[in-house]
Amino acid sequence: MKKLFALMLALAMMLTAAAASAESLKVGLNAEFAPFEYVDDDGKITGFDVELITAIAEKMGMEVEIENMYFDGLLGALTSKMVDCLCTGMTITEERKASVDFADPYFTATQAVVVLKDNDTIHSIDDLKGKKAAVQDGTTGHFMAQDDLGCDVSDTVYKAATDAALDVVNGRADCMIIDDAVAQNLVKKYDTLTILEGMDMPVEEYGIAVNKDSAELLTKINEALAAVKEDGTYDALIAKYFN
Ligand code: ARG
Repeated sequence: MKKLFALMLALAMMLTAAAASAESLKVGLNAEFAPFEYVDDDGKITGFDVELITAIAEKMGMEVEIENMYFDGLLGALTSKMVDCLCTGMTITEERKASVDFADPYFTATQAVVVLKDNDTIHSIDDLKGKKAAVQDGTTGHFMAQDDLGCDVSDTVYKAATDAALDVVNGRADCMIIDDAVAQNLVKKYDTLTILEGMDMPVEEYGIAVNKDSAELLTKINEALAAVKEDGTYDALIAKYFN
């Protein structure tokens, strides 16, 4: 009888703990990627993704707990269960799909080539061959520059998109390869920079990543994302961050 009681007590405690932890959704991101996620002047992590995942969590009756880390460590943080999901401008790729699952796409992007306004060496994709390209570590821009465009990234890989941009500003790199919306943000910030037109890069789609064994969470996120699109929250965020 005593044993049974102890067992029931233990079970009750476990259930309470599970219920308490279920209230927070741990979100991994890299706040070096404005306007999707960045640290604002007050030291607060904010941006399109942060507000989107907060709205999604709200629909799920959960609270967001942000874990800010380097982009190249995010997939490992997810698969090792340090976080429940990633919402960080992450492109859905076949390589990543081998280790994690993605929710429905929430944003369409492409890679942009950022150069100095007075650049006179890069006019086409072919011109990128052998050029020094500044990139953010572990991003699709990084892999594309290195593997597809034949750029030299030997000493121009950065943890922060801003540091990569500074390389172009300072003439240390010939160009920077980064997601278009982030590139647009950077050329607004540094007025010597511009985005090359007509580069015709492949289209990418961002998705929230979850673990492969989190099918239930994935369904809930997809339902909440649909609801956030339905009720106008998504459009309001697009207008706030991209217009
Ligand atoms: N879309 C690109 C990728 O998936 C870049 C994402 C970088 N995101 C960030 N928060 N630093 O690789």
